[in-house]
Amino acid sequence: MTAFLSVDHNPIALEAKTDSVLLLSLQDYSLLHLHKRKTFTPVNMLKEKIHLLAARYSNDMSEVRRHLHAHPELSEKEKETAAFICARLEEYGISYRNNVGGNGIIAVIKGRDPELKTIALRADMDALPITEQNEVTYKSLNAGVMHACGHDVHMTCLLGAARILNELKLEFEGTIRLVFQPSEEKFPGGALAMIKEGVLENPVPERIYGQHVLPTLEAGKVGFKTGKYMASTDEIYLTVKGKGGHAATPELNVDTVLIASHIIVAMQQVVSRSAPPGIPTVLSFGRVIADGRTNIIPSQVKIDGTFRTFDETWRAKAHEKIVVVANGIAASMGGSCEVFIDKGYPFLVNDLEVTNDAKQLAAEYLGAENVVDLEQRMTAEDFAYYSHMIPACFYRLGVKSPGWKEIRNLHTSVFDADESSIEVGMGLMAWIAMNNY
Ligand code: NI
Repeated sequence: MTAFLSVDHNPIALEAKTDSVLLLSLQDYSLLHLHKRKTFTPVNMLKEKIHLLAARYSNDMSEVRRHLHAHPELSEKEKETAAFICARLEEYGISYRNNVGGNGIIAVIKGRDPELKTIALRADMDALPITEQNEVTYKSLNAGVMHACGHDVHMTCLLGAARILNELKLEFEGTIRLVFQPSEEKFPGGALAMIKEGVLENPVPERIYGQHVLPTLEAGKVGFKTGKYMASTDEIYLTVKGKGGHAATPELNVDTVLIASHIIVAMQQVVSRSAPPGIPTVLSFGRVIADGRTNIIPSQVKIDGTFRTFDETWRAKAHEKIVVVANGIAASMGGSCEVFIDKGYPFLVNDLEVTNDAKQLAAEYLGAENVVDLEQRMTAEDFAYYSHMIPACFYRLGVKSPGWKEIRNLHTSVFDADESSIEVGMGLMAWIAMNNY
């Protein structure tokens, strides 16, 4: 098979080979023509080459994933992770720049005519403050830190894709920019830091792709959604102030606990009465601290929550509404409320054309039966920043093992990925990146 993989780039010479995957059909040529793809081997043969390389590298890339999984690092602390990725890139002979926007890395693979266009592929690098409960050989060795959002798989797939693309760099036109991005899990996020340091410049990539694991989707499948896919996210911090005192003398106090309770209930009208019904919106409070006792009313109560939606105008209005409701309720009961809104990531939008192309390519690479449509979701991603600057597609890689009865969800101590997804993820990324037409 080595001879096949290092085959020259003259299609006439390929035609003479007897291996069935090498045989050209009229359909191959018409596909190539129809899509105006700038690859130098007929489409079906190229696909076969990528499948073969992905299969060849899959064991080694599983080792890469296991190393990354066993050595997770928190947001902004991805030093060893970055060093490991750089060492791998050097091993593959791929040039890179490190320390971009913190621990970020930008690697470059130049195809034929590298000035023609640039396509970017992105993977995130950081782990979460969770103690892993999986009893696996590659269990996290860093106490209290775990790759519970699959970023180990994302980095591995991007490294695998890089390896394939580097091997096939005479087969495509343009440049492929590989973006290893730190600190996705922590505001303000590594995407913004890398953008500030020029990750989307010189030249501006025509398209950017991100691939993220999805625990509810079986390994072997991938999912796409055009348009607005993930929500904007803001952290809401309310501090209710009143007059603490003995719980038996309410007439002498301003009861912060009662004010806080009213505020939490009243806030639900922001979603149910003020949000335009066509715009999905969530306002949830997950932390309420009233540190009094059975017989002590505290002088302040803290309420922390999250606000998520899909429209910038409504987002700004909602922020105002939250302030008005909190202040109004508190004032009506003799207290006050300080509101701090920490504005986070914008909503993530998948470009219609880029996403439809990627979906079509995924169907060609994996079979249409392995490509699913996704629902909009209220989780957030800092890939959203890229998606507001250049045409983008953020799609999902199935990682659920057929043997698993329960969903091993993201951000839990039992998250894991079926490693067969790595071969799929790296091959598909390479296939999509090479077939931009
Ligand atoms: Ni993630």
